[in-house]
Amino acid sequence: MVLTLVNQSAITLSLLEWSSLQGFLAGILSSLLRQPVWWIPMHLFFSPLLLLMLTLDISPSWYLLAFAALLLIYGKTFRTRVPLYLSSKDANIELAKLLPRDTAFSFVDLGSGCGGLLKNLADSHKNGHFHGIESAPLPFLISHLRNRLLGSPFTLTWGDFWHHDFSNYDVVYAYLSPVPMEALWQKVSKEMRTGSLFISNTFIVPGVQPYKSIKLNDFSHSTLFIWKI
Ligand SMILES: C[S@@+](CC[C@H](N)C(=O)[O-])C[C@H]1O[C@@H](n2cnc3c(N)ncnc32)[C@H](O)[C@@H]1O
Repeated sequence: MVLTLVNQSAITLSLLEWSSLQGFLAGILSSLLRQPVWWIPMHLFFSPLLLLMLTLDISPSWYLLAFAALLLIYGKTFRTRVPLYLSSKDANIELAKLLPRDTAFSFVDLGSGCGGLLKNLADSHKNGHFHGIESAPLPFLISHLRNRLLGSPFTLTWGDFWHHDFSNYDVVYAYLSPVPMEALWQKVSKEMRTGSLFISNTFIVPGVQPYKSIKLNDFSHSTLFIWKI
């Protein structure tokens, strides 16, 4: 559409100027339509950056490779509404403090990403059994290789945690998004044993007070919310 405008318009602007104008108008529309605030810079810069990339003469195979990698990481986000982002170093430290040092226990990370959190906790708590469930193929593969190559003692399942029974765990950890929290609480309440802990990084369960919360000193100033079942 922009190209048609460029061809037919009496105004002579360079392609970069047209694309900046397009980005500017899309940004304003996005704001008027009250889209989430991060859409505005995305609209603003998408076309100019596209043009810029075309001038770089990069082989199309790289774009295909990047697309495939993104698909293998974020392809299921459309359904799960939970993208990949990793627990901060501070979250790792605070979680490690919460876990028992002497008694045996079991821990599951719902959506274990690339396995970094599991590796850290399994290394510091030899008395625990750590399990991760991850549905995105590439993060699962990375955590699998990490486990094999670095010999960290955690186990992994490639799949959907909604099909997994939580009753085997003393601690269930989730760093997801606001979307699944209400349904997750239903599953937690139904399946988790009395006395076990459900910990959510950042996202609350609507209407259910945690028994404890720990403020983290990380980039997003997140909080660990803890419920005792
Ligand atoms: C925000 S990341 C957290 C990664 C890791 N737990 C951490 O704390 O560093 C959430 C992860 O959950 C995964 N995920 C989302 N829904 C899932 C589901 N239903 N079953 C398994 N994994 C899921 C996503 O693919 C993503 O890797």
